[in-house]
Amino acid sequence: MIEIHDLTKVFENKKKGSVSYKEAIKGINFICNPGEIFGLLGPNGAGKTTTLRCISTLIKPTSGSITVNGYDSIKDDRKVRSIIGFLTSDMKLDGFFTPDYMMDYFGRLNKMTPKDIAERKEVLIKELHMEEFRYKKIDKLSTGMKQKTSIAISLIHNPDIIIFDEPTNGLDVVTAKNVTDFLKKYANEGKTVLISTHIMSVAEHICDKLGILIEGLIKELGSLDEIVKRNKTDNLEDVFFRYLEVQDV
Ligand SMILES: Nc1ncnc2c1ncn2[C@@H]1O[C@H](COP(=O)(O)OP(=O)(O)OP(=O)(O)O)[C@@H](O)[C@H]1O
Ligand SMILES: [Mg+2]
Repeated sequence: MIEIHDLTKVFENKKKGSVSYKEAIKGINFICNPGEIFGLLGPNGAGKTTTLRCISTLIKPTSGSITVNGYDSIKDDRKVRSIIGFLTSDMKLDGFFTPDYMMDYFGRLNKMTPKDIAERKEVLIKELHMEEFRYKKIDKLSTGMKQKTSIAISLIHNPDIIIFDEPTNGLDVVTAKNVTDFLKKYANEGKTVLISTHIMSVAEHICDKLGILIEGLIKELGSLDEIVKRNKTDNLEDVFFRYLEVQDV
């Protein structure tokens, strides 16, 4: 379970002796439960990646608190890192190595035994259909193959908490479906899955709960059904554009 309380994040930008501040997250609250896929839906610059980076302990919140399975993201940051699998869009894979080797390497970093690594690798390679390219150099792989490799690496230690930033970005429909089916399966097994997306259909089709994030604030929170009913419409796009129009005025 992930619990976010009054989270804020202010970035300080220093440029030629002057300092400016960007309030990227302005006090948000939400809970992701085990067995559910929670989707943070928002336009570019809304604060999705910032929120996920705070939860994953890569950056510190300015204020507020985050707990992951009861562990505090600041006091127990090591523990939090050990129970999450974080996929980020700016994960750079070394082109010289193969997916198979990278999985071994990250397995060892996670202090897994060689036997556990070998078993887990076979499961992930099968689930993500990586058989044909597991021994190819990452340099030679397509965008989708690289994304699957990043996913496999981030989940090598079979974490209870899965945090994926824009997991279907740049993927064709078949590969995107493979990834979303995979996330659904993990949620059905009782894992906590938190994703960010700006793609309406991903939010509609795979998320059990949604938070609509606009300019650092959660404007709507709940299931798709609850959100559309509350806004007296029958589709999410309407709700989303209403908020964007208000913001443009
Ligand atoms: N390290 C940083 N320093 C300063 N400002 C930052 C930093 N990281 C993010 N920001 C700013 O915070 C805001 C939110 O950025 P963030 O990357 O969280 O948005 P996002 O919702 O993930 O957008 P996208 O859909 O484009 O990925 C933006 O205005 C961005 O410029
Ligand atoms: Mg982002």
